[in-house]
Amino acid sequence: MPARRRPREQPRTPRPRPVTQSASQNTEESDSLAWFKPIFLTLGIGIGLMLTLVQHYKLDSSSGDVADLEWWQLSVVYQIYPRSFQDSDGDGIGDLKGIKSRLGYIEYLGVGAIWLSPIYSSPMADFGYDIADFKDIDPIFGNMEDFQNMIEAAHSKGIKVIMDYIPNHSSDKHPWFEASRQSKSTPFRDYYIWHPGKKLSNGKRAPPNNWLSVFGGSAWEWHPVTEEYYLHQFLKEQPDLNWRNENLRQEMLDVFKFWLDKGVDGFRVDAIKHMYETEHIELDEPLSNIPGTTPDQYESLDHIHTANGPEIHEQVALWRQLFDEHQAKTGKYIYMVVEMYDNNVTKIMDYYNSGADQPFNFGLTPPRGLSNNCGGLCVKGLVNDWLTAMPKGAWPNWVVGNHDQKRISTRIGPGFTDAVNMMLLLLPGTPTTYYGEEIGMEDITVAFEDTLDPFGKLFGPGRYMEFCRDPARSPMQWDDTKQAGFSTADKTWLPVHPGHVTRNVKVQQNDTSETSSLQVYRHLVKLRKNDVFRVGNFHYAVVTETIFSFVRHIENQPSFLVAINFGHKTTRTDFFEGTQMWLPEDGQIVLTTGHLKDEDLVIDQTVDLQNISLESGEGIVIEFWRK
Ligand code: GLC
Ligand code: MG
Repeated sequence: MPARRRPREQPRTPRPRPVTQSASQNTEESDSLAWFKPIFLTLGIGIGLMLTLVQHYKLDSSSGDVADLEWWQLSVVYQIYPRSFQDSDGDGIGDLKGIKSRLGYIEYLGVGAIWLSPIYSSPMADFGYDIADFKDIDPIFGNMEDFQNMIEAAHSKGIKVIMDYIPNHSSDKHPWFEASRQSKSTPFRDYYIWHPGKKLSNGKRAPPNNWLSVFGGSAWEWHPVTEEYYLHQFLKEQPDLNWRNENLRQEMLDVFKFWLDKGVDGFRVDAIKHMYETEHIELDEPLSNIPGTTPDQYESLDHIHTANGPEIHEQVALWRQLFDEHQAKTGKYIYMVVEMYDNNVTKIMDYYNSGADQPFNFGLTPPRGLSNNCGGLCVKGLVNDWLTAMPKGAWPNWVVGNHDQKRISTRIGPGFTDAVNMMLLLLPGTPTTYYGEEIGMEDITVAFEDTLDPFGKLFGPGRYMEFCRDPARSPMQWDDTKQAGFSTADKTWLPVHPGHVTRNVKVQQNDTSETSSLQVYRHLVKLRKNDVFRVGNFHYAVVTETIFSFVRHIENQPSFLVAINFGHKTTRTDFFEGTQMWLPEDGQIVLTTGHLKDEDLVIDQTVDLQNISLESGEGIVIEFWRK
């Protein structure tokens, strides 16, 4: 097949064009007025098109100047699940030396930052989210020297390193817990949350309340030595830390300092909303009445006593103070993104206010989120929910997957990888990409007997598939060799996806037509280095049952129309007439999701905006100048 895209050596940046437009484009006034057509022009046209109301979103960086942005506002964050990225010692599990050896790939992708899921000492009950020493590296991943080497190598390539920080719990093998469970009189007793429970009339004991673990079942575990229950909002191997204890708070602050001294650039704070519970342990939580939830399932309760307590925000503010002090000393900005899932968007937004740079935006992930049934209007709803709920001055962010979710290709459909990446990378704000999504990796199939993830195991053979997170954690697919270039081991910790033979980095890198998912991803990353994608305004353009489209624009630079078909039927759209926004009659195609079915939609070609046909999963970026 003849290549339809001219191979390019240079990064694709829009060519500056002679400014033939009217001088009025330089004024702020023109920015707000000339942009939209009088409404009568658009009435009555576009049968079958849903006219979107004029909606406009201005990115609120202090001056709108790229120079004022911090690194995390300019970077894509690339999440590495260390067990699965690259194994260097042949034990079938990824490690730090492995990550270091693949930094060239990170550089090639053009993302500015990596976030590592936990690499700390851990019995691995929850694959590292159960920490036995917050200040040490687990031997599976290497040692402190390997960490130092990795971070130095990353920094020398201009790549920032973000670490996971897990405040809610430790491992039950942490020396603090080992001491805590031995006696009621040790100073470590109060590092965790203990309770004698309820005495029943038959003399037996029961947990003090109905609280549930996120992983299902009671959040209380009986411990026979001191005859009390301890709280665990996740596994029983992950006892909850007691942040009301001053020494504990100090210890955990020291953990931050320890990693800051090692040169870490930011933290992803795990499960933050669970950090504090009410002091009135006797209080039960009410039923959520969410349909379809079973009584042992976390979602069956409304977590009014165990989530998002005000004390958490005080801690976040203190951490921000620590990071500010660090910046005053070193000049380095420390990024803080916090992780929490909540149905109440206001509760999420509160973290922007207390000192986090951002709470992760999980609006695009399950349970709502992007799906096979979420077309243009639905996608717009999801995007808009976040943009309209954000406090003034906050910076948006977008997440489409992580180690807790099914992969894009499995969740939304194999034909949607590039479309989703296009949206992720061109919306205003900071995108986070889960490793492998740039090549469209798919979930592996794991039988119940082979399931490793405790979240899956706890729900048994009947329901494990609903919860099991193993499928999205399979090894990175580097090439078509036996273990996909991930490891020399005969057996890797989770199996490599059999599809790696055709879907892998090597194949996509060598694709001379430059239309592989990997190439599209790289071109998107380059494109978003344009100021217009960094600080430009954002307007929805035509949004229909199938099409989601938007325009990014700043003064004195070319604008871009991004149009994606998230539906299932081919849609022909008139972008010129179909929106109240001013759009030209034609523009120039700068990027597409691979080969588009419509033979005329070829990169570098001029395209008639009145007549663009996109098939399901196809997306296009068109550059134009305002009149
Ligand atoms: C977060 C992590 C998840 C982990 C849990 C407990 O949700 O992303 O993987 O199991 O916290 O630490
Ligand atoms: Mg290894």
